[in-house]
Amino acid sequence: MKVCCIGAGYVGGPTMAVIALKCPDIEVAVVDISVPRIAAWNSDQLPIYEPGLDDVVKQCRGKNLFFSTDVEEHVREADIVFVSVNTPTKTSGLGAGKAADLTYWESAALMIADVSISDKIVGDKSTVPVKTAEAIEKILTHNSKGMKFQILSNPEFLAEGTAIQDLFNPDRVLIGGRETPEGNEAVQALKGVYAHWRISSVNAMSALCEATGADVTQVSYAVGKDTRIGPKFLNASVGFGGSCFQKDILNLVYICECNGLPEVAEHRKQIAILGFAFKKDTGDTRETPAIDVCKGLMGDKARLSIYDPQVTEDQVQRGLSMKKFDWDHPLHLQPMGPTTVKQPDFKRIYGNMQRPAFVLDGRNIVIAEQLREIGFIVYSTGKPLDSWLKDMPAVAKMPCTDWRPSLPHESIT
Ligand code: UDX
Ligand code: ADP
Repeated sequence: MKVCCIGAGYVGGPTMAVIALKCPDIEVAVVDISVPRIAAWNSDQLPIYEPGLDDVVKQCRGKNLFFSTDVEEHVREADIVFVSVNTPTKTSGLGAGKAADLTYWESAALMIADVSISDKIVGDKSTVPVKTAEAIEKILTHNSKGMKFQILSNPEFLAEGTAIQDLFNPDRVLIGGRETPEGNEAVQALKGVYAHWRISSVNAMSALCEATGADVTQVSYAVGKDTRIGPKFLNASVGFGGSCFQKDILNLVYICECNGLPEVAEHRKQIAILGFAFKKDTGDTRETPAIDVCKGLMGDKARLSIYDPQVTEDQVQRGLSMKKFDWDHPLHLQPMGPTTVKQPDFKRIYGNMQRPAFVLDGRNIVIAEQLREIGFIVYSTGKPLDSWLKDMPAVAKMPCTDWRPSLPHESIT
C-alpha cells in the first residue's frame, strides 16, 4: 500500500512519520509545495521541533518514509491520499477573522482530481468546518477523469509539543465516511492502517448537529473519549495561543452564527522574557500569547530580551512586527541555544537586577517561595499576590490579561 500526505507541516510531518514507523509494509510519501520545508525534512535540522520526532524520522527516512516536492507524482501513485494543508483563519472576505480559509484544501482537491489515474481514498487530516468533506467530494467528482474517490474525515487530535506521544497513544481515532458499501470499505481500509498500533477506533452540540445533519450521540461519544476533558486541561496560564485551538474555536462560533444559533513608565524597564512559543516543547509561534504580552510591554517602552530554545530571532522579529491574523507559518525553525533553560540561576540573576526585582510567572512553573526567599517579588497567574503587590494601587496590579509593566524596575516574565 502507498500513502501520500499533502502538506509537510505540524500535522502531516509527525503523523506520517509515525505511520511509517508503525507500518513498515506501507510506503509513505510526504509532499509539499514548499521547497525549503521539504529540504529541511530531508536534512539533519527538521523544520519543526517535537520531542521524539528526530528519532522516528531517522529510523524510517529513506526506507518507507520519503519527503518530496514532487506532489503530483506521489499523489498519482497513492492508494490513500491524506490532506493536511494549512486551514488558517480567513483574513479577508466573508467570515474574515473567524471562518476557516479552505483555499489550500480546495486547490489540493483540484490537483488530486487532475492527476489521478486510479481510484483513491482521500483522508482529511486538516481541521475543517462541518460539511467540508461534502464540498470536497463535489470538487473531486466534478473534476474527476473517470476515477472514483471516497472522502474520509480523519481529523488529527495531536497537540504540538506532545505530537509523537499523542500519535503513539491516542485517546481515540476518528474516521468518518459515507454510509454506503464503498464508504464503509474505505473506512475499513483506513482503520487497517491505524490497527497496526492504535487499539481503539471511534465510530451539547445538538442544535448544531440538527442544523448540519450530524448525529449528536456520535459527536458526544467521540468528544467524551478525550481524556483532556477534565483536570488535564484546567491549568491556569497567561492565556491560550497557537494556531489550531484558537482557530477551531473561532470557526465553531462562526458556524453557530451561520446556522442562526445565536502607565506611564518612569524609565525604560529591562525585562527578560523566558519562552516565546505558544507552549513548551514547540517552535510554533503562530498566535502565541507571548506576542500580545511583548507588544503590551513594548507599548510601555520596556526593553525586552527574549529567549526560547526552539524559536529563532527572525521568528520573534516577525511575530512582533505583524498585525494579528497576518501571520503565516515559519519556514525555518532553528534552535538558538540549548534545548531548555531548565534551571536558571535565580540567585545570580537577582544579583544583577535592579530592586525591587520581579518575577511574573505566566505558566505557574517557578517555585514562588524559593524565589521570595532570594528576594524576588513573585506574581504567579491565579495565585495570591505578594503582600508588596497587595498594597499597591489597583491600577498598578497586573491582571493576567494585561501584562503592562506598571511596576518599576526589572522583571522576568
Ligand atoms: C489543539 C488541540 O489540543 C488538539 O486536539 C487539536 O487537534 C489542535 O489544537 P495545540 O494547538 O497543539 O492542540 O495546543 P494545546 O495543547 O491544545 O494548547 C493550546 C493553548 O492552550 C496553549 O497555548 C497552551 O499553553 C494553553 N493551555 C492548555 C493552557 O493555558 N492551560 C491548559 O490547561 C491547557
Ligand atoms: P498544520 O499545522 O495544519 O500542519 P502547516 O502550516 O504547518 O499546518 O502545514 C501545512 C503545509 O501544507 C505547509 O507546509 C504548506 O506549504 C503545505 N501546502 C499547502 N497547500 C499545499 C498544496 N496545494 N500542495 C502541497 N502542499 C501544500
